[in-house]
Formats: sequence, C-alpha cells, structure tokens
Amino acid sequence: MKRSAFITGASKGTGFAIARRFAGEGYEVFIGSRSEASACAAAKKIEEEYGVPARGYGMKVFDEENVKAIFQDIRSGGCLLDCLVLNAANLGIRQEGLTVPISEFMDVINTNMGWNFMLARQAALQMREKGGGSIVFINSNTAYRAIPDRIAYGASKSGALGMMRAMALDWGKYGIRVNAVLPGMIKTDRWENNYNDCRNAPSNYTPLGDIAEFEDVANAAWYLGSSQSRNTTGAELTVDGGNMIQLYPLIPGADDRTGPAC
Ligand SMILES: NC(=O)c1ccc[n+]([C@@H]2O[C@H](COP(=O)([O-])OP(=O)(O)OC[C@H]3O[C@@H](n4cnc5c(N)ncnc54)[C@H](OP(=O)(O)O)[C@@H]3O)[C@@H](O)[C@H]2O)c1
Repeated sequence: MKRSAFITGASKGTGFAIARRFAGEGYEVFIGSRSEASACAAAKKIEEEYGVPARGYGMKVFDEENVKAIFQDIRSGGCLLDCLVLNAANLGIRQEGLTVPISEFMDVINTNMGWNFMLARQAALQMREKGGGSIVFINSNTAYRAIPDRIAYGASKSGALGMMRAMALDWGKYGIRVNAVLPGMIKTDRWENNYNDCRNAPSNYTPLGDIAEFEDVANAAWYLGSSQSRNTTGAELTVDGGNMIQLYPLIPGADDRTGPAC
C-alpha cells in the first residue's frame, strides 16, 4: 500500500534529512517550506534520488485556509496522509524578555504551537479516515532546560509537549499516535558557520562527546513516524548525546569538577 509523509520546513537541513529518510523507505513525500520554489526544488531532488513521488508546498505561517488547501490537494492527489512531521520552527533567537515586542513573542508561540495545531488537526482528519497514522513533533531539550533570551521559544516547545500528549490521548481511539523527538544541538549551517557563537554554547558538551547530525534526528523521526513504534504514543525521544542528563556541562580541559561533591 502506498504510504505518505508530510514534513514541514523540509527544503533543507534537518527537515530535508527527515524527508530523505522516509523517501528511502519508499514513502511518497510532501515537502513544506515558506518558499514554494525551495519546496519544489527539494521535492525534485528527492524524486531523482529515490524514485518516489514527491511534491513541494509553499506554506503560509499560521494561516488555516492555507493549511486546509494543502491537505485538500494531498487528498485530491489520491493520498490520505500516514505521517506528519512538524519540523519547522520559529527559533525566537535573541528575544530579550524585558524588551521583546509582544508581537514577536506571539509570533513564536503562534508558529510553534498554533500553526502546528492547525497542521496536526488536518492530518488527523485524514488519518482518522484512513484508520490510523502518526504525528511527530520535532521538539527540543529546551522544553525542559532554559537557554538565554529564548523565553517564547522555550515556552512554545514546553507547550508543544503538552499538546502532543493531549493529542495522543484524544486521538488514540482513531489509531493516531503522537510523539516527540527532542534534539539537543544539531550540526546545522548555523552551527557550521558558528552563527551566534553556537559552537561555544554549553549544549555542545555532551556525555557522548558529540552533537546530532541531521540523520540522527531523521532516524528518530522515522522510528516514531513509522510502524516500528506501533505501540508508542505520547512519548519523548531525546537525541542530545545525553546533554540534558547533566547538572552542568562537563567541559574537557576547562576545569576539574569530577572530584568530591560540595
Ligand atoms: N538546530 C538545533 O540545534 C536544534 C536544537 C533543538 C531542537 N531543534 C528543533 O529541530 C527542528 C529543526 O531545527 P533546525 O535548526 O534545522 O531548524 P531551522 O533550520 O531553523 O528551521 C527549520 C525550518 O523551519 C522553517 N522556518 C524557519 N524559521 C521559521 C519561522 N519563523 N516560521 C516558520 N517556519 C520557519 C525553515 O524552512 P523554510 O525556510 O523552508 O520555510 C527552516 O528550514 C526545529 O523544530 C527546532 O526547534 C533544533
């Protein structure tokens, strides 16, 4: 039977790797991007590489009519979605809490929670009709551990986890599973180019000594998004090299904090 997955923010980076992972398993893939041209270019690359059908969609953020039109188009093409991966995010970088305009704060909340709700609901309507499906939130370990000047982002990621569990509870009766991947630092272009001093952030220091490649996040999304995890819902899968289990990051050579407890 033909299977399909929709991945948001998938024209490059983490989202593109997730789309490739599903395409590699034979899924028809739908790519979402705010740029229709980028979405279509990414879909073309996937078709060429994997020989599966792929389509790109230009997405308007927080616009329910746009979301409905996309899902209608998927249906018109003969598909009811099997998997939705909510990867796109407003990162809300450098939002200093005492001065950030409330409109910018709410943009982050609306994108990461409201828009994802709109998408998940349309996907769930198709999945209910199909008899089941899987929704995967690409969340963050910052849902649990705060980082500087990211109040809206952290709140949106914590809120999205609550939303994920509530959806899992409500939609389990339709065979719809809802889970979350919690990456730590990922080797994105921003990390490669050391944007915002990414490479020196404490989240680089993990017990495993490395941070996530795109494929690490894609593998986790595949596990939760496919029947590999058929009895799992409302769950969180952390992909952060163990960063979050530390009370403080152990920075090699910086100091010796492995001695007696204070
Ligand atoms: N990078 C990390 O270290 C890290 C750590 C923990 C969790 N995460 C999470 O992992 C996911 C992917 O992370 P990433 O770093 O690869 O993300 P990213 O590249 O910043 O964003 C993923 C995609 O989301 C879309 N996007 C960016 N800003 C947006 C906005 N303001 N509104 C709507 N869409 C927007 C972009 O796609 P288009 O331009 O094509 O629309 C972008 O390619 C995100 O959910 C992020 O929160 C990332």
